[in-house]
Order: sequence, then structure tokens, then C-alpha cells
Amino acid sequence: MKLKASFLVEIMGLVLFAMIISCKHEIPFRIAEDTPVIGGTQSCSADTVYFQNKVLPLLNSGCAMSGCHDIITHEEDVYLSTYGNIMATGGVRPGDPSNSKLFKVLNKSGSERMPPPPAAAFTQAQKDIIYTWILQGAKNNACNDCDTTLFTYSGAVTPIMNTYCKGCHNPTNLGGGIDVSTYASVKSIALNGKLIGSIMHTAGFSAMPKGSSKLSDCRINQVQKWITAGTPNN
Ligand code: HEC
Repeated sequence: MKLKASFLVEIMGLVLFAMIISCKHEIPFRIAEDTPVIGGTQSCSADTVYFQNKVLPLLNSGCAMSGCHDIITHEEDVYLSTYGNIMATGGVRPGDPSNSKLFKVLNKSGSERMPPPPAAAFTQAQKDIIYTWILQGAKNNACNDCDTTLFTYSGAVTPIMNTYCKGCHNPTNLGGGIDVSTYASVKSIALNGKLIGSIMHTAGFSAMPKGSSKLSDCRINQVQKWITAGTPNN
């Protein structure tokens, strides 16, 4: 009897151990809490780099694509789609960009560089966005930079494409076979209904920008008005 009891305990121990081991792989990647956004309705100050306006769209389309730092792949446990996770996993030291991993990797060489080749390196202007935002304290801030009355291709649509979409839709990273870096290609997705369907999160279309929050109503409005005006190259 005694022997049987200790044998049972051993078996139970083994089962428990096996459960812990197998569970380990199923623990979902931690999603950090987001802090409330500071500002949002205030007008933008020219010398501030705002996280929600500039940094998040850049990281989302330049780093958080599928196979890299999105919630599913989270390469090296770095997940760059929300403020909370960027702060928890991106190696950001507020006020100290030169010692922040998020900034340092932009200037490395070879496959260490982020985004790694064949993706293009960040431009100097893009690096400056990350640098200045960290230097200014890496806050979760925002400002109102959208003008509903402006809906030209160059003044409204191009900046939206460049900020929120181009990182995943360019000739070297053709998400869904779509390129938004030229007028002709943006016009074609405007005319077949995919552009507005995807940004309005209409059923039947893939919701864009992928993995990130919806564009503001003002930006969706700008795109809608440009399409209604006949997608001019203005
Ligand atoms: C993080 C990467 C990423 C970002 C950012 C992104 N896309 Fe996409 N997009 C994709 C991928 C990948 C697909 C292919 C379909 C899928 O996986 O959902 C796609 C598909 C699409 C489609 C086809 C949708 C359909 O239902 O046929 C359109 C249109 C599109 N994107 C437009 C945009 C626009 C406009 C933006 C910016 C507002 C944007 N995308 C931002 C990755 C991205």
C-alpha cells in the first residue's frame, strides 16, 4: 500500500511537470497596459515629436509587420504595435536615445540593422523622429494635425500613405501585392473600392493599417473626399 501511494504521488508529480512544461509554450505574449494618450485635440507644436502622430505609425509600418515585430511573431520578444509594448520591449530609455536599443539598431550594419536588409534603412528624417521623441521623454502624446478641408493628393493622401501605409506597401514589401508609393497605384485601389473599404474597416476587406488602430475620422474623411472628387493628381 505504502509503495503504491508514493508511486501515485510520483506519477502525479510527473503529470504536473508535463503540464507546466507544455503550458509554457502556450503562455500568450504579454500585452502591456497602455497609458492614456496626452493631448490629442491640442494643435501641434513644431518642435515636439508626438508619439501617436509620428512614432507609432512609423514603427507600425516599418517594424510591426507580419514575420517581424507584430503580436504573433514578436521577433526577439520585441513587439512594436502599441505604446505599452514599445516601452516594455523596445529598450527605450526616456531622455537617452543614444543608449536606447530602439534607436541604436537603426544605425547598425548588416543583418543587425533594423529594419534588416532587404528592407530599406530608415531615412535620416525617420531616425530623427525616433531620436527626438526619446530625447523628449518618450511620452504617449498626440496633437491634432489633420485639416478636414484639405483633400488634395499631395497635401492629404500622400502624407497619410507615407506615414501609415508605405512601410508595408512598397516595391520591396508588397503587402497583399499592393504598392502605395505611386499615384497610379493609389488611384487603382481607390477606384476598385479597396482603399476606402480597408481604412473604414468595412466587412469583406482586410482592416488597415494592419495591426494598428483605425485612422482618425478626419483622415478617413480626407481620403473619401479625394476619391469623391475623382482621385485627381493634385
Ligand atoms: C503592418 C503592415 C501593414 C500596414 C501598416 C498597412 N498594411 Fe495594408 N496590407 C498588409 C498586408 C500584409 C495585406 C494583405 C492582406 C492581409 O494580410 O490582411 C494588406 C492588404 C491591404 C489591402 C487589400 C485589402 C483587401 O481586402 O483586399 C489594401 C487596400 C491595403 N492593405 C491598404 C492599406 C492602407 C491604405 C494602409 C494605410 C492606411 C495599409 N494598408 C497599412 C499590411 C499592411
